[in-house]
Amino acid sequence: MVRVLRFLTAGESHGPGLTAILEGMPAGVNVSLDELRRELERRRRCYGRGPRSAIEEDEFVVTAGVYKGRTTGAPIAVFLPNKDHVNWANRDVPITAPRPGHADLPGALKYGFTDCRPVAERASARETAARVACAYFARKYLDVHGVRIVSWVTAVGGAAAVLPPAELRMADETTVLRLADAAERSPVRCPDADASLRIVAAIDAARAAGDSLGGTFEVVALGVPPALGSHVHWDRRLDARLAAAVMSINSVKAVEIGAGFAVADLMGSEAHDEMVLEPPQVDEPPGAAPADPRRIRRRSNRAGGIEGGISNGRPIFLRAAVKPVPTLQRPLSSFDLVTGQNRPAHRERSDVCVVGSAAVVAEAVVALVIADAFLERLGGDTIHRG
Ligand SMILES: Cc1cc2nc3c(=O)[nH]c(=O)nc-3n(C[C@H](O)[C@H](O)[C@H](O)COP(=O)(O)O)c2cc1C
Repeated sequence: MVRVLRFLTAGESHGPGLTAILEGMPAGVNVSLDELRRELERRRRCYGRGPRSAIEEDEFVVTAGVYKGRTTGAPIAVFLPNKDHVNWANRDVPITAPRPGHADLPGALKYGFTDCRPVAERASARETAARVACAYFARKYLDVHGVRIVSWVTAVGGAAAVLPPAELRMADETTVLRLADAAERSPVRCPDADASLRIVAAIDAARAAGDSLGGTFEVVALGVPPALGSHVHWDRRLDARLAAAVMSINSVKAVEIGAGFAVADLMGSEAHDEMVLEPPQVDEPPGAAPADPRRIRRRSNRAGGIEGGISNGRPIFLRAAVKPVPTLQRPLSSFDLVTGQNRPAHRERSDVCVVGSAAVVAEAVVALVIADAFLERLGGDTIHRG
């Protein structure tokens, strides 16, 4: 994979804290600790999360790469201490009955453990707080280029939002911004107020039953110019990089770009986005390129803003599916790695539904990929000299 902007995270769910390092950010990007705090809070505060999200306030300290409110071009380091580290009595309790759907069993088999605790601690999506922290800086870089990334939840546990048609959600900026604003006001990040109530009720019912729920969300990146990514090699394709990044989020099981799976049922004449070249503006300089992107109009955006692995100037549109949380209070059947006896899976404090939080994490990883593609194309040690 091409990488100008790289990031690494380290840390366990109930360890002393998370460490995030972002390398490759140009100098001169204005950043604010209050904004970073708000981004972390967007990930954390979502109805359906467990008691942990109320305990962790996502405190952090930026220890490198920022001077007087601006990035310096040096690696940015953020440390997020785990408040729960000292409280949580279970942190040393072994996990010997792997939870189906969690990393417990494959992780134990891979690393030769009979106690899955070290696997569970790192597989925990607490790590996604570190990704959101890195992405905050990428988002601020993208702000400079007029790119805005938003998301909303479309369904949880079968309770689906009634939304404007997909054609509008994929292409119309006013619709996208209206949905994004409504999602910010919903406890479950769903822009349909009625569906939000049904989702809250479904989460309550799942919690009462000792069960969990999954769902779907959409992410849109507005203002992305043409020519990011490339068709020339598989690992330069922007669609592949975005899909991998979103799929890397714990519990995401499917990613669609643009019309996604729906295109499989369409005729070619219905699946693609026809183009029209509008006449030049009177004030356009003589000899302006015939394919000046400002003159190209598309009636639809079924491609989701990417053709041949390259952004085409239309909004980038992704949809993803999140599976239900694997830790159940009424556990599924499993077996004990130490005794060899069948028994119910390990049970501990857990979220019931994470779809809204996963959507915020998806915005974050999409920002990191798009910022990386920008930097590949523009280079630049500083935003002031491109
Ligand atoms: C924001 C967020 C919070 C999560 N919280 C929990 C949780 O409390 N309990 C749990 O069992 N899984 C939780 N998950 C899901 C697991 O981390 C995930 O299912 C596990 O790492 C296995 O990875 P996989 O589902 O991608 O195969 C959460 C996921 C996200 C995105």
